[in-house]
Amino acid sequence: MRKIVVAVTGASGAIYAKLLLDQLVKLQAQIAKVAVVMSDNAKEVWRYELGNDEYQNYNFDFYSKKDFMAPFASGSARYDTMIVVPCSMGTLGRIASGISDDLITRAADVILKERRKLILVARDTPLNLIQIRNMATVTEAGGIICPAVPSFYSRPQTIEEVAMTVVNRVIDLIGLENDSYRWIEEQ
Ligand SMILES: Cc1cc2nc3c(=O)[nH]c(=O)nc-3n(C[C@H](O)[C@H](O)[C@H](O)COP(=O)(O)O)c2cc1C
Repeated sequence: MRKIVVAVTGASGAIYAKLLLDQLVKLQAQIAKVAVVMSDNAKEVWRYELGNDEYQNYNFDFYSKKDFMAPFASGSARYDTMIVVPCSMGTLGRIASGISDDLITRAADVILKERRKLILVARDTPLNLIQIRNMATVTEAGGIICPAVPSFYSRPQTIEEVAMTVVNRVIDLIGLENDSYRWIEEQ
């Protein structure tokens, strides 16, 4: 049973966070706990891109990004997986540099030091060398860069279906059983 932290930051792609949280609701039988922490800009971008504040409606444990008393600010709480979705280049850079100045970056620091699973759904384009080096640094430290790059071979028809091609890869990386599209089964 997974104990999962979902951090939402202010990159474009609030839809990825929404769809991942929706999936975690559906897959709750496989999960012990979901904790959510959002940056200030994540809330702004969610409101701007999705036109609502519905992140407040999820029945998960929400934490302020200033709350260093949150359980997953310590390795002893044994959260095993953290996803930053979408992950801004700012948050990527702070994680790569070990700047644990809020709950998101502290939690990522903890996950890496405990050798657990950190998945960054990084979003920006094009990328500069600093961003690419930060992705390499996080990868070398054991993190997984899972860029918000959709695929089209499942022939998605709606924005949600396009975004789900990214979210399904995240669900697979977390290790949750799900019945998403599988290329091999279409042969
Ligand atoms: C509508 C909107 C879209 C943005 N898209 C991106 C993006 O795709 N990638 C990115 O790195 N930053 C993006 N930003 C900028 C970040 O929100 C900004 O760098 C912020 O400081 C990130 O802080 P956070 O990681 O604490 O949320 C966007 C900002 C806005 C308002």
